[in-house]
Amino acid sequence: MEKTYLEKIKETAAFIKDKVGDAPHIGVILGTGLGDLVNHIEIKYELNYADIPNFPVSTVEGHSGKLIFGNLGGKYIMAMQGRFHYYEGYDMKQVTFPVRVMRQLGVETLFVSNAAGGMNKEFRVGDVMIIVDHINLFPENPLRGKNYEELGTRFPAMTEAYSQALVKMADDIACEEKIRLMHGVYVGTPGPTFETPAEYEYFRIIGGDAVGMSTVPEVIVANHAGMRVFGVSVITDLGGKDIKEIPTHEEVQKAAILAQPVMTKVIKKMLERI
Ligand code: HPA
Repeated sequence: MEKTYLEKIKETAAFIKDKVGDAPHIGVILGTGLGDLVNHIEIKYELNYADIPNFPVSTVEGHSGKLIFGNLGGKYIMAMQGRFHYYEGYDMKQVTFPVRVMRQLGVETLFVSNAAGGMNKEFRVGDVMIIVDHINLFPENPLRGKNYEELGTRFPAMTEAYSQALVKMADDIACEEKIRLMHGVYVGTPGPTFETPAEYEYFRIIGGDAVGMSTVPEVIVANHAGMRVFGVSVITDLGGKDIKEIPTHEEVQKAAILAQPVMTKVIKKMLERI
């Protein structure tokens, strides 16, 4: 008989526990812009996604990710190098499966990062934006379907989807280190198209500051599971009615890499304080 989602989560967590022993309480999803963080982790164990039972299989060649366990900022953490995007064709349960496994392993605090297009007129390319809230524009909610009470409640609140205490901590660090850190609302869209000028404008009018193609599903599941979340976006391009530049994948990658040192510094200092 086909295993249930809950059984798969437990099976995968047990497999990982068998390999690495006690898991950390802090998880990190390394999106675009936080890839460099890996170079600062004192790595203890690495598990390729391809070797982890029930993990989604990577669709993109040379894109296979791994789970990394090690020390950073004096804390033992687990990090996902590579995430599963909805636009790649994964369903919402697959996209968020690793977050479920992290929680099952004992992760209580989740750091997520992404690249995003900026609609806020104050933003510049290369800015780092702390996500203070999000707007879910994915066509599906990852919690749709059977609810396992063991994983979380049927109708979870999303009032503080991003921990205000962690936002405050990041602000304090930015102040001390004289780092320009923006605050904003992240609009999560399915992609893979970048927005039309009218769409950027629309997202700004409804209250968005930046738009991207990830993060929202994972953050919904993390909240459902009772985790506290800290999220950051690197603003890799700007969009709106009057903006003529055409965003490209290459430009997004380049801008994200430029912002990496700032992202790394903030996250590392936060880990030291947590
Ligand atoms: N739109 C959506 N996703 C993105 C963008 C954007 O402009 N930039 C980086 N990811």
